[in-house]
Amino acid sequence: MCGIVGYVGDKEAAGILIDGLKRLEYRGYDSAGLAVVQPKGIKVVKKRGKVGILDESLKKAKLKGGTGCSHTRWATHGIPSKENAHPHLSCDGKIAVVHNGIIENFHALRDSLIKEGHKFRSQTDTEVIVHLIEKFYRGDLGIATRRALKLVRGAYAIAVVSSNEPGRLIGARCDSPLVVGIGKGENFLASDAPAILAYTKKVIYLGNFEIVSLTKDSVKVTDLSGKEIPKETSRITWDAEQAKKSGYPHFMLKEIFEQPQVLRGILDERLKKARVSFQELKISGAELKKFKQIAIVACGTAYHAGFTGKYILEEKLRVPVWVDTSSEFRYRGPIVGKSTLVIVISQSGETADTLAGLREAKARGAKVLAICNVLGSSIAREADGVIYTHAGPEIAVASTKAYTAQMAILYLLAIYLGKLRNVISSKDAEKLVVQFKETVAAMRLLLGRYKKKRNTIATYAKAFRSYYLKHKEKGFFLYLGRNINYPNALEGALKLKEISYISAEGYPAGEMKHGPIALIDENPWVVAIATRSRVYEKMVSNIEEIKARGGIVIAIVTDGDKEIERQGVNYVIEVPVVEEFFSPLLVVVPLQLFAYYMAREFGYDIDQPRNLAKSVTVE
Ligand code: M6R
Repeated sequence: MCGIVGYVGDKEAAGILIDGLKRLEYRGYDSAGLAVVQPKGIKVVKKRGKVGILDESLKKAKLKGGTGCSHTRWATHGIPSKENAHPHLSCDGKIAVVHNGIIENFHALRDSLIKEGHKFRSQTDTEVIVHLIEKFYRGDLGIATRRALKLVRGAYAIAVVSSNEPGRLIGARCDSPLVVGIGKGENFLASDAPAILAYTKKVIYLGNFEIVSLTKDSVKVTDLSGKEIPKETSRITWDAEQAKKSGYPHFMLKEIFEQPQVLRGILDERLKKARVSFQELKISGAELKKFKQIAIVACGTAYHAGFTGKYILEEKLRVPVWVDTSSEFRYRGPIVGKSTLVIVISQSGETADTLAGLREAKARGAKVLAICNVLGSSIAREADGVIYTHAGPEIAVASTKAYTAQMAILYLLAIYLGKLRNVISSKDAEKLVVQFKETVAAMRLLLGRYKKKRNTIATYAKAFRSYYLKHKEKGFFLYLGRNINYPNALEGALKLKEISYISAEGYPAGEMKHGPIALIDENPWVVAIATRSRVYEKMVSNIEEIKARGGIVIAIVTDGDKEIERQGVNYVIEVPVVEEFFSPLLVVVPLQLFAYYMAREFGYDIDQPRNLAKSVTVE
C-alpha cells in the first residue's frame, strides 16, 4: 500500500519520478506527490486523486533538478487530501520524506516533537519522520535518518532528500518493500521493480533495518548503527514491456488473456518429461518426506488458490491439509510444529498478515515454503524455501494470472511430493502431466472464444445491468460450487465484488439448504459451476431447487451439455472438456471475464477499484 520512488542522477528527476508512480499506482491512488531538489531549494507538488492529476499539474510547475522522491498514497492515517499527500517537509522546508507503512508510535513522537517546537501540517503518521530527521540533522542526512529511525516503531519504506545535500538520496526499510535500482550515472529507489524497469534491471533488495545512501555514482548500505552491509545485486527477469497494456484496454483483461502463456511457461520451466523440479526450493527431500500435515496460509485470491490446493494435495498425498486466512492464523496460536509443512502463498510477497503468519509458523518450529510471484520479496526471503510463480508483473488490483499460476504450482507440488513420498507412481505422474497440458490447451481454446468484440459473457453482464436498473438495484449474486471447484465459487464472488461493487457471496452448493436458500426469490443471480464431475448430478439438483424458487441462473457447463439447459437455466457458459482434477484452472476463466465485463458495463475503474491497493502491507 502506497508506492514510493526515488531518483538521483543527471537526468531531470521529475519525469522519472512521475513515470515510476504511474507504474506503481496499483499500490494506492488516493493522492500523489513529488519533491525535487532544485537549485533554490526543494519544490513539492502534490494533489489529491490519481497520478494523472499530478502529472497534469506538473506541466505548469517546470521542475528542474536531478534528485527527488515521489509517492502514490493509499490513505491510512488522515483522509485523502492535499495536506495529507506525501512528500512531507521539515519545518525549514529543507528535507522531504515519502513513506510507505505505518508508524505505530507516532502519537507519542508527535506530541514530544510539538513540545520541542515542530509545526505539523498534516494528520499523517509519516510526518513525524521528517521532523525527527530535521531534529537530528547536523550536516549528514544519512546519520540523521538513522537516528530518527531508531525512535520509530512500525513498518516503513522511506525515501529522503534534502536541499542541504542536493546529490544525495537516502532510503530505508522495515517490513515495507524497497528495491534499489543501480544505473549508470544514476540510481533509483522504488517500492516495486516495475517502477524502474525501463531504466535498469540491476537491483539490490534492502533488508529490514537497512539504510541506503545513494549518489548518482555510489551505493552504500548500512545498518541503523552505521555498520556497512555488503549486498548482492540481482537481475530482474521481467521486462518493461510486460508491465504495459500492450493494446488491451485494461491490465486485468491482458492478464486474463496471458494465463495460458503463463501456465505454459511454468510447465516448460518446471518439467523434464514428467519429472518436476523446483531448483530454488531449499527444503531438502528428506525434510519434505517427514511432515505429517500441511497448513496453507494466505489472503484474498491467494487464499482461494490455497483452498484449491487443499483439494489438490489431499487427493494426491493423502495427508491432512488445512487452510487459513493469514489474519486469523497469526493470532490464534496455530497448532503447527516440526511435523507441519506450512505453505504461504502471496503474489506480492509483501502482504503484512501473510508475512506475520510466516514468522509465527517459523517461531513454532514449522518449515515454511512460500509460493510468490515477486522476486526478492520479504516473504520469499524469509521463508525456508520458495517457489516462484514467474507469472510476470501483475498490475491490475484484481488478481487473475497470479491465481492460476499459484494453483499451477500447487498441482506440480502435488506431483513432486507425491513421487517423493512414493504415493504417486511415475506412470501416474506422466498421466497427470498430460492432463495438465491438455487443460492449458483448453484454456487457450476457451479464451479464443472471447477474443471477439461481442461475446456471450459480455452480453450476460449487459443483461444483469438492465435487470439491476429496472429492479431498482435489487440484484445480487450467489456463486455456487462443489468439491474442487468450491474455492472457485469464492474467487468468482470476490472478483465480482472487488471491481463491480455488487454484493456477491460464494457458497458450497450443498450448504444452500442450510440457510442461503432463504435468499432465493427473483432477485439473486446465481452463478452455478456445473461442469462434468463426480458431483455433477448434485449440482443439477441444486440448480433445480433455485429455479423452482424463481432464481436467475448462469450455469458454467462442459461443452455440449444439454441437461442443464433442460433445467431452464437463464444463461449458459460452456467450457471445453478437461479432467475434473485440473478443472479449477479452466473454470475460473469465465468467472474472471464475467467480473471484468460487469465492471466495464457499469463503467467502473477496472484496474484500480475503489478503496483497494494491490499489495496490502498494513494489517
Ligand atoms: O500479494 P498477495 O497475493 O499476498 O495478496 C493477497 C490479496 O490481497 C489479494 O489476492 C487480493 O485479494 C486481490 N485484490 C484479489 O483480487
